[in-house]
Amino acid sequence: MPRLGINIDHVATLRQARGESYPSLVGAAEMALENGADQITIHLREDRRHIQDTDVIAIALVTRKFGKPLNLEMGAAEDILNIAIEVAPSWICLVPEKREELTTEGGLNLLSDDIFSKLQGVCNQLKEKIKGVKISLFLEAREEILMRALDLRVDAVEIHTGEYATDFLNGEDISGHLSSFQKAKAFLDSKNIACHAGHGLTNKSVLPLLKSGGFEEYNIGHWVVSEAVFLGLARVVKDLRGVFDENC
Ligand code: PXP
Repeated sequence: MPRLGINIDHVATLRQARGESYPSLVGAAEMALENGADQITIHLREDRRHIQDTDVIAIALVTRKFGKPLNLEMGAAEDILNIAIEVAPSWICLVPEKREELTTEGGLNLLSDDIFSKLQGVCNQLKEKIKGVKISLFLEAREEILMRALDLRVDAVEIHTGEYATDFLNGEDISGHLSSFQKAKAFLDSKNIACHAGHGLTNKSVLPLLKSGGFEEYNIGHWVVSEAVFLGLARVVKDLRGVFDENC
């Protein structure tokens, strides 16, 4: 059974939009774990646009209470590394980060020697400073990139599914994506590196991946929070209507 990681960044996006204390990130993490999530995923971005440093500490406590992993997605910035070392999550997923992007737009470019050697240092530092931490790298499903991951101290690769998911939503041919995912998975299996997937997935676009038995772990966030609006809006409006009706 593959693991389901629920990314709750966009609960924090809502909170940060108004600078209030609600919606509660801790409440969201607990609800996800009580209802079948195998882990909580959060991305501490350099600009702190959603998850805050204190959230990382709070969510680590929640996941520990449930005996489930926290998967911390992060770029290689010094201050974020220090927080990761302090919090010691079970998993760290290293991602590329550009401040101006709307979301993570693609995998790490391991073909760049600068990026590769920076990541080498980061992986070594994390492995040395956090006992038992597992590291994944967010990568495209391209063999020349995956090859270079073999020279880093990583336990898994998270394959970027963003372009696949967009093509799926637009009704385009997804067979090319599926075959590159299969090749990536076979390659990583042969090297004993776990193969995860994430970005842009929905309950529909995840289906062909689940059916092909492709990945060990899926991290899904934006769609989950978006869908939760529709599953919850009717109830909240009805309850508020009730408050008006009973008090006026
Ligand atoms: N995996 C990685 C590495 C990501 O950067 C993200 C987005 O933060 C996700 C998974 C979740 O993607 P989405 O929110 O589009 O489901």
